[in-house]
Amino acid sequence: MTQTVGIEIEDGIAIVVTDNPPVNALSADVRNGLFKAIETVEADANVEAVVIHCAGRTFFAGADIREFDKPPVSPVLSEVIDRIEACTKPVVAAMHGTALGGGFEVALGCHFRVALASAKMGLPEVKLGLLPGAGGTQRLPRLIGPQKALDMIVSGDPVGAGKALDLGIVDNTVDGDIRSAAVAFAKKAVAEGLPIRRLSMFDERLAAARADMAPFEEHAAALLTRKRGLDAPRICADSVRNAITLPFAEGSRKEREFFMHLKNGVQSAAQRHLFFAERTAQRVDDMPKDVRPGKVEQVAVIGAGTMGGGIAMVFANAGIAVTLIDVQAEALKRGLANIEKNYARTAARSGKGDDWIAERVGRITGAESLEAVAQADLIIEAVFEDMALKHKIFADLDRLAKPGAILATNTSTLDVDEIAAATKRPEWVVGMHFFSPANVMRLVEVVRGRKTGFQALATAIGISRAVGKAPVTVGVCFGFVGNRMLYARTRQVERLLLEGAAPQAIDKAMTDFGFAMGPLAVSDLAGIDVGWRARQQAGSKIAPIADALAEMGRYGQKTGKGFHLYPEGARRGEPDPEVDALIARMAGERGVKRREISSEEITERLIYAMVNEGARILEEGIAARASDIDIIWVFGYGWPVQHGGPMFHADQIGAGMIAARLAQMAESSGDETLAPAPLLARLAAEGGAFGKL
Ligand SMILES: NC(=O)c1ccc[n+]([C@@H]2O[C@H](COP(=O)([O-])OP(=O)(O)OC[C@H]3O[C@@H](n4cnc5c(N)ncnc54)[C@H](O)[C@@H]3O)[C@@H](O)[C@H]2O)c1
Repeated sequence: MTQTVGIEIEDGIAIVVTDNPPVNALSADVRNGLFKAIETVEADANVEAVVIHCAGRTFFAGADIREFDKPPVSPVLSEVIDRIEACTKPVVAAMHGTALGGGFEVALGCHFRVALASAKMGLPEVKLGLLPGAGGTQRLPRLIGPQKALDMIVSGDPVGAGKALDLGIVDNTVDGDIRSAAVAFAKKAVAEGLPIRRLSMFDERLAAARADMAPFEEHAAALLTRKRGLDAPRICADSVRNAITLPFAEGSRKEREFFMHLKNGVQSAAQRHLFFAERTAQRVDDMPKDVRPGKVEQVAVIGAGTMGGGIAMVFANAGIAVTLIDVQAEALKRGLANIEKNYARTAARSGKGDDWIAERVGRITGAESLEAVAQADLIIEAVFEDMALKHKIFADLDRLAKPGAILATNTSTLDVDEIAAATKRPEWVVGMHFFSPANVMRLVEVVRGRKTGFQALATAIGISRAVGKAPVTVGVCFGFVGNRMLYARTRQVERLLLEGAAPQAIDKAMTDFGFAMGPLAVSDLAGIDVGWRARQQAGSKIAPIADALAEMGRYGQKTGKGFHLYPEGARRGEPDPEVDALIARMAGERGVKRREISSEEITERLIYAMVNEGARILEEGIAARASDIDIIWVFGYGWPVQHGGPMFHADQIGAGMIAARLAQMAESSGDETLAPAPLLARLAAEGGAFGKL
């Protein structure tokens, strides 16, 4: 038919085979081929039924997102799917691998669906700020009912074939050869004269919902409360509602309008940017092509505290054996018990059994001596943030670790080069900076020291990916990328407080921007004492108010008082006049004139200060790309995805605007760190963008 689509005929069954490696994306050539193939087999008197099959590892894994930013090429996917559905001979989808997005919509356009038991399917468009635009929001509700369809469409999470069978999405699941199973199903459909099932004509499930819309509306409202600030989930729900209230053709027309609207909007551009940025971040530009990540079958984690425990779970979850080492017997016991508690909590929440817990816990062995690192391929140190201690541990590791083992440190601030200097093998030393809680947060800053070798770097990146993390390579400096920008923001938070912004106003500005919590609420939750201790060790004076609160024993939620007040264990803080008085007094002592500060100014000051620090980080080569910084803030600090990361956001606003505002704010506040960084000033002058560097 075309380069990527062919037809093979066996005993009256036409098998339309797509072969478009690597994942059979629905490119223009594939769409064209499928359309022509259906026309051809329909006209062929020797063909009684049709199977749509894909070669290689998967059924159509989705649209070709490289085509997204180009003008649409005919036939568009919905035309192809409508043509498949209109076919007068039974059409069977043979699903294996991952039938996602447009791929799943193709399957929904077929009259029957047979899936390999290992197949997964779903509509992940919402994760790119989109909605399924080729009939998915109209056909799926007709097949499984609007509420279940809404769950799949609004979450974007795929379901396995077993669940799909229960939901009535697939007619049959098989082990073994999907192609012959689908051909057998097609023969059966012919032999038994099974009526052709066109989902666009189904109405039974919608009629029930139409009679009483309340359950649907309640369900939608509940799902959407968790998607605050995002347009796509809301519009997905609107489109599923249309499936109930409008005829198929009208609902489909609206669906395409919704799709174009979302596609052209900034939120989807931001989410698509992040999709590519995550992949790009795994690349190290000067890495020689022949370097492959080393095998990691045995991991040792040193320090069974908050981070060590979480890191051990990351590897245990991925099926890797872990030795968790702590020199204090009590700390080790507590660490292992915390891990068990954590697993038990997850199991209770997700309906997993004791076996599930035992399997994971069983992969983690405790040890009290550093000698237990001997067999480890990867050793991650997560002891107290203390250079002398880390120095001693790395000197010991140099003696005890096997040759070629990766020696990683989870330090948040210390100089990785100095740590590496404690060994005679600095080429094997690398930072692997996990974020708390390590078993949840996806970011790992892979810190490349001056002497870190390519092999160690490749292995640290490779294993991070393999255990489901989002690794980003960064250079050595205080706080690396994420925390360094966080400190830049904290500095402005404190200054804004002194200048007259209320703690509640600062938090509100950031939650209005899209963060789940404001910076002060986060401090109260994490414990003001934690940051205070870190600042004391580093000799940092950026947060005098937080330091004063810590010295008063106001540690946050755990003491009922922090920046906000938490009467009787409340989770949401209330304003506290004592804090307001403290801040006013400190402002007076420092001679800071207090004034009204608008929410807009708070937002600009905090966000632009971060962008400015990001520009310095790029200039110094601490981050390789602006998009790497975006990934760090989205996966490590909950930056709202609809804004695509701080540097993407900066490009939306424009370097000129940001530089001008920063210059004004530097002037009015007297804080010279707000003066535009040279790179930002250059982009402003040239009309350039971070994304184009
Ligand atoms: N807590 C965070 O949010 C966070 C985030 C990223 C990185 N980090 C970094 O991770 C590291 C650990 O932080 P944490 O919060 O887990 O600390 P923690 O105090 O919870 O745990 C440290 C553990 O190390 C153990 N330990 C001390 N000396 C040891 C030795 N010689 N051998 C073996 N174990 C020893 C202690 O007994 C303790 O259990 C620090 O470098 C910190 O900067 C922390």
